[in-house]
Amino acid sequence: MADPIISCRNLSRSFKMGEATIDVLRGVDMAVAPGEFLAIEGRSGSGKSTLLHLMGALDEPTSGSVSFDGRDLFSLSSTERAKVRNISFGFVFQFYHLLPELTVQQNAEISAMVRYSRREFRKHRSTLTARAVQILDSLGMSHRLKHRPSQLSGGERQRVAIARALMNEPRVLFADEPTGNLDVDTGGQIMSVLEGLHRQGQTIVMVTHDRAIARQADRVVVLKNGRMEANAAAAV
Ligand SMILES: Nc1ncnc2c1ncn2[C@@H]1O[C@H](COP(=O)(O)OP(=O)(O)OP(=O)(O)O)[C@@H](O)[C@H]1O
Ligand SMILES: [Mg+2]
Repeated sequence: MADPIISCRNLSRSFKMGEATIDVLRGVDMAVAPGEFLAIEGRSGSGKSTLLHLMGALDEPTSGSVSFDGRDLFSLSSTERAKVRNISFGFVFQFYHLLPELTVQQNAEISAMVRYSRREFRKHRSTLTARAVQILDSLGMSHRLKHRPSQLSGGERQRVAIARALMNEPRVLFADEPTGNLDVDTGGQIMSVLEGLHRQGQTIVMVTHDRAIARQADRVVVLKNGRMEANAAAAV
């Protein structure tokens, strides 16, 4: 593999539940190559979301490391880590997580608001707005710019979430069960969107319990009993 864009080494995450400790990830080794579309498959409760949150710097491991572009994410300060997350990563979730009071266009723009200071955002406002409109247009949402999420179908909501994730031109797009709340046809359309982005060079890491969805990625690794099944470790 070319130098990985992301690599996980001996990554572990446990949760304390009262007296008990649940060891969800028990030494995950894996790598993501630049430009690849990787699916992480595993049963419900196998720790897929936990792993994706660690790779995307949304959570901290109990032990082990995640490197992005050769930099150990968890030896950075939390401010620097947040910067990496806001600038270099985009996220798409099963339940969209759009802000209900904002329009479609404002929901897409929000990641630029998070990334830039208020002053910078104002300064670049027209460019950023044009970018949001262009991305929404490329996702077939130009006729819905002023709508609110409650006025949209599930597939349309997920397109807005994808637009928001793409707003900062992320180096890695993370998707957690992006089709999990959609019917088969609509889910297929969202997978086509992801495949199209991948063909344009977007690195994508997607987690899913659905084997048929996972197979649409370039490479599938399987998370089981807190570790990657053998083929994944071989790719590191
Ligand atoms: N913050 C938390 N506190 C305690 N336990 C947690 C926490 N987050 C996850 N877990 C536990 O870790 C295990 C793995 O959860 P996770 O959400 O990563 O699984 P998953 O593979 O994404 O499942 P699904 O396919 O249902 O989304 C579960 O047993 C869950 O209860
Ligand atoms: Mg999950």
